[in-house]
Amino acid sequence: MDWGMENRLSRLIKSDGRCFFLPIDHGYFQGPTNRLEKPGETISPLIPYADGLFVTRGILRACVDPRNSPPVILRVSGGTSIIGPDLSHEAITTSVQEAVRLNVAAVGMSIFVGSDYEFDSLVNLGKLVNECENYGIPVMAVTAVGKEMEKRDSRYLGLCCRIAAEFGAKVVKTYWCEDFDKVVNGCPVPVVMAGGPKCETQREVFEFVHDGIQKGAIGLNLGRNVWQHNHPVAVMKALRGIIHEKASVEEAEDIFENEKKND
Ligand code: 5RP
Repeated sequence: MDWGMENRLSRLIKSDGRCFFLPIDHGYFQGPTNRLEKPGETISPLIPYADGLFVTRGILRACVDPRNSPPVILRVSGGTSIIGPDLSHEAITTSVQEAVRLNVAAVGMSIFVGSDYEFDSLVNLGKLVNECENYGIPVMAVTAVGKEMEKRDSRYLGLCCRIAAEFGAKVVKTYWCEDFDKVVNGCPVPVVMAGGPKCETQREVFEFVHDGIQKGAIGLNLGRNVWQHNHPVAVMKALRGIIHEKASVEEAEDIFENEKKND
């Protein structure tokens, strides 16, 4: 791997091989998402605990201090909204020059396997990888499932992750599911997990994260289950315990309960 590519990846994936990315890109199709109305205020207490920030260029420039930012994964796809006809109809909306100008550690885009726009999103991924390889910029593929969350099984997510890796993604973001080892084992590049809508209980989050890490995920790209919580710093510290300190679910719960008091 070329020096620049390896250097950028090592900013995001820590020396233990693990990572915790904080995504705040939801507004690019959802608008002012609950608790992310003012992204700068939401993330300010969370920045010390994030190994990376997944964000659009607009929010990066408007809400993130360039002198105090974790490494950035720039969201470069979009073009749809939750009130439009089809969330899967995305294109690349940001240039690689812009990624270089913003000194990002990686770029990220969504692919929509099985949708009407499967072909477009996969060809866009291939083109993005072609361009980013010239500049040593890693691409994170986001295996989006749109409104059809019932597709969250290992067969479907394993298919999406493998295809993303085949197209040259250096990291793949997907959702946790039963038999998560099948997803990871079929994907030759590192896999990180997102959370989707906020879970009913905090234990559910610790359980799926712990299970996913045991089964080979290298970390998280977890948004709503962090910043929609009333104690997001405590959540992040407990999850960092699982990711970086080999904490069990029970140990994560203890960290969470203790940290809640200071949060
Ligand atoms: C939105 C995304 C998000 O980055 C991803 O879904 C992670 O956030 P969450 O944990 O809230 O699902 O790609 O399109």
